[in-house]
Amino acid sequence: MTTTISNNISRAVELLKLGEIVALPTETVYGLAGNALNPEAIAKIFTAKNRPQDNPLIVHVTGMDMVRELGLEVPELAERLAKRFWAGSLTIILRKNNNTISEAISCGLDSVAVRMPNSPIMLDIIRQCGFPLAAPSANLSGSPSPTCAEHVYADLNGRIPLIIDGGNCEVGLESTVISLAGDTIRILRPGAVTPEMLSEFAEVIIDDKDSPLSPGTRHKHYCPKAQVIACRGGYQPPANPNLYIIDNPEAHTLYAQLRKFDEMGAECIYIKLPEPEGIGLALYNRIIRAANFNIIES
Ligand code: TXA
Ligand code: MG
Repeated sequence: MTTTISNNISRAVELLKLGEIVALPTETVYGLAGNALNPEAIAKIFTAKNRPQDNPLIVHVTGMDMVRELGLEVPELAERLAKRFWAGSLTIILRKNNNTISEAISCGLDSVAVRMPNSPIMLDIIRQCGFPLAAPSANLSGSPSPTCAEHVYADLNGRIPLIIDGGNCEVGLESTVISLAGDTIRILRPGAVTPEMLSEFAEVIIDDKDSPLSPGTRHKHYCPKAQVIACRGGYQPPANPNLYIIDNPEAHTLYAQLRKFDEMGAECIYIKLPEPEGIGLALYNRIIRAANFNIIES
């Protein structure tokens, strides 16, 4: 299959309506999108990414009206959070009332993750399609998420027909994923919508930041080819020309740096851990996973 990079939105809509899959820009990272109501399209997403079959997908919508049409339960707290943070990088897990969203997406769970992305291109495409789009990050499973069209091409060339080029992603890290239990918000994956921001709405519980408990986090994640070592405090890495250092990791560029160091032939990448506060919590979470929990304390 030939993979084209373009900004031909009508071609993307045409392919999606035919049950094909297309990589699309969002404000967080590029997503690999398919019709959320078409199990065959969903199967193509899992195949193209080599995604483990037990890792459910996020369904992208144009708002809560579309969520209700999907037969998902929308508690009042979800409504208020969406009003404040949508369109944007907050993914909310909601209980299913029926099977409009197939098992292929929810992987046997009784819930579905939904998000309204803050990307005019993606929103326009969902509206033109008339159906929601399931979309995981558009990387090969395990590798860093793509934050520009070229990253998607590097991973999925030959596996998908089209990549829509929307330039660099504004946020550069995947969305915050939360679930709701009564009046409590539980953060399963930290992101640009921080615990501090969410705590204005309800009590916030953060999944243990040093443990791989959340769904999907059992698997290898965000890993470049080079070995990553996370460092806390001051450190003196050994002298080695194939060793690279990220001293001051930041959201927008972390994944691009990891990919660039791979291209430069890095054997090992040392990354200094930020304080796990604000957006730093999301960076911390991605870095310790990229390092496969290999952390040097000093
Ligand atoms: O920013 C983002 O969220 C990007 C863009 C494309 O929207 N998408 C993304 O998707 O990062 P993905 O598939 O790479 O990550 C989705 C995460 C996984 O950790 C998955 O386990 C979790 O969301 N998830 C999805 N559905 C879930 C559910 N029903 N319950 C718990 N976790 C769920
Ligand atoms: Mg991903």
